[in-house]
Amino acid sequence: MRTVLIAAAIVFSLLGSVTVEAAEIVIKFSHVTSGKAHPKYLAAEEFAKRVNERMKGKVRVEIFPGGQLFDDKAVLIELIKGNAVQMAAPSLSKFETITKKFRLFDLPFLFNDINAVNAFQASEHGQSILKTLESKGILGKAYWHNGMKQMSANKPLIQPEDANGLKFRVQQSDVLVAQFEQLGAIPQKMAFKEVYGALQTGVVDGQENTWSNIYSKKFFEVQDGVTETDHGVIDYAVVVSKRFWMGLPDDIRTELDAILMEVTNDRNKLSRSLNLENRQKILDSNGTIRTLTAEQKDAWRKAMKPVWDRFSDEIGADLIAAAQSFSQ
Ligand code: LMR
Repeated sequence: MRTVLIAAAIVFSLLGSVTVEAAEIVIKFSHVTSGKAHPKYLAAEEFAKRVNERMKGKVRVEIFPGGQLFDDKAVLIELIKGNAVQMAAPSLSKFETITKKFRLFDLPFLFNDINAVNAFQASEHGQSILKTLESKGILGKAYWHNGMKQMSANKPLIQPEDANGLKFRVQQSDVLVAQFEQLGAIPQKMAFKEVYGALQTGVVDGQENTWSNIYSKKFFEVQDGVTETDHGVIDYAVVVSKRFWMGLPDDIRTELDAILMEVTNDRNKLSRSLNLENRQKILDSNGTIRTLTAEQKDAWRKAMKPVWDRFSDEIGADLIAAAQSFSQ
């Protein structure tokens, strides 16, 4: 008994003299892009910089770009568990397995430009789409912009018929599969990491992506040229593991939310100019860019439009109308 009391006294005196520091919270943020002028790469870096400066000792954000940790398909599964990764920003086209509402963003020629995308995302309808993730164990915290999609292939694409019979890489999205089928092309779902090799070796003939992805991944080097179609959008949902996020102390969560909102507002304004910078870099590197006349662009719009009918029931006609209203 005496020994126990002495031991307890030692423990108490030790505890009394030592202030126990709360362990630093580490947030692993995984994404697939890279490149010093890429909108998502830069936004993620900026988020980490601000958190790591302002919440020093309490929270540390570690960014894993270039798909070095997980590709976008795997990251969603890992996020639900919340152990290996706590934060990510997959493109909206990659949420297919979790919710069908995100399919809206892949409808061809739904938005005229990134400003229309931005206005819709900020609206009540736009925000309601993010909320559909919650019941699946993921919280959609913000939209980050990349930009409008362009189309490239190993031959010039001027009329929609030019895509006929060609194999195109698409993201993990059935709407994008339908879009290329509508053109008489052969779509193939493929991870971002594999696209350059697939274009180079002829596994696929073409692809669609933003200027920043086409430049940073050098797709233009293994294509005949890029056609400025602006036919769709690649944007991101910044997502966190619900289990992890709701387990954070309230004050920490509030501060992280505030920093994320600041970074979102600051960086989204720069996405268009960054994409134009990447477009220019393609030209400076002797890449070919083809522009379309209004009539030619209209022909692409008409050729792809039937895709809307195939998906409008499950996306919801009201949601489509709401999104469309920002491009009229
Ligand atoms: C793609 O797979 O083409 C894009 O979603 C990559 C990205 O994150 O921009």
